[in-house]
Amino acid sequence: MATADGHGTDSTVPARGGPGERPLAPSRKFNSGHWVGFSTRERPVRTAFLSDIHSNWPALEAVLEDLGGLPEVEQVICLGDVVGYGADPVRCLDHVRGSGWPTLVGNHDRACTDAAVLGWFNADAASAIRWTIEQLDGERLGWLRDLPERSERGGALLVHGSPRDPIYEYILDPYTALENLQLVGERLCFHGHTHVPGVFHVEQEDLAHDYDLGAIELRAPALVNPGSVGQPRDGDPDASYGLWDPEHGTFEFRRIPYDRDRAKRAIIEAGLPGRLAARLDFGR
Ligand SMILES: [Fe+2]
Repeated sequence: MATADGHGTDSTVPARGGPGERPLAPSRKFNSGHWVGFSTRERPVRTAFLSDIHSNWPALEAVLEDLGGLPEVEQVICLGDVVGYGADPVRCLDHVRGSGWPTLVGNHDRACTDAAVLGWFNADAASAIRWTIEQLDGERLGWLRDLPERSERGGALLVHGSPRDPIYEYILDPYTALENLQLVGERLCFHGHTHVPGVFHVEQEDLAHDYDLGAIELRAPALVNPGSVGQPRDGDPDASYGLWDPEHGTFEFRRIPYDRDRAKRAIIEAGLPGRLAARLDFGR
């Protein structure tokens, strides 16, 4: 079971203790938005979910290489936070954008174009975003600004954070998971943001959190997090992503080792905070 004991110590400073407890602005409640950004497909297809790449090109490159050996994957969806923390924002953004992957906006993506959001970030995360903004031209910043907050594919909801607060809420604890599960009806919701892979669902009237390498059975309603490509926080430093097979009703968690020294070196050479490099070795 994922708990709130530090997994969620991300860029935003929680105002009331736990990382999932940042007060919700009324304007960000579940029913405030529209399902925009890309169209719904009738036929659900085998889909790779990547989230929280965070400008870590060596990690993304390793995941792409792994994906290259999986010809059965028909589409890739990116659940947000393409940039932030890492030292390769241009390369990561250009790849995601150039591939045409449906992509949601994450809190770090939004902080690049909204100073108020940047104001919530802790010092390390904020300095990485300020540096990122300097690396990106107007067109790239415009692409980040225009990413949708919510969408759907194959009947499933897609957000970065949570169904009720699509960019900012962390689903880490059972209480937050249950409240959000009640909003998805009989659907699946794919999300990221916590950097902790796993599936929240109700089993025999209890809330369960499943995570295992390999394929696990998916039964809606469920909240499915593929983990983070570029900065995992579940204690395993390998890049994390997942494959949804809607036909067989499974989700496969995959972990991919990558050249962490290269990613760490790039962070140091860019003059970004050393802690952002060091944490990559601990998966925290
Ligand atoms: Fe993130």
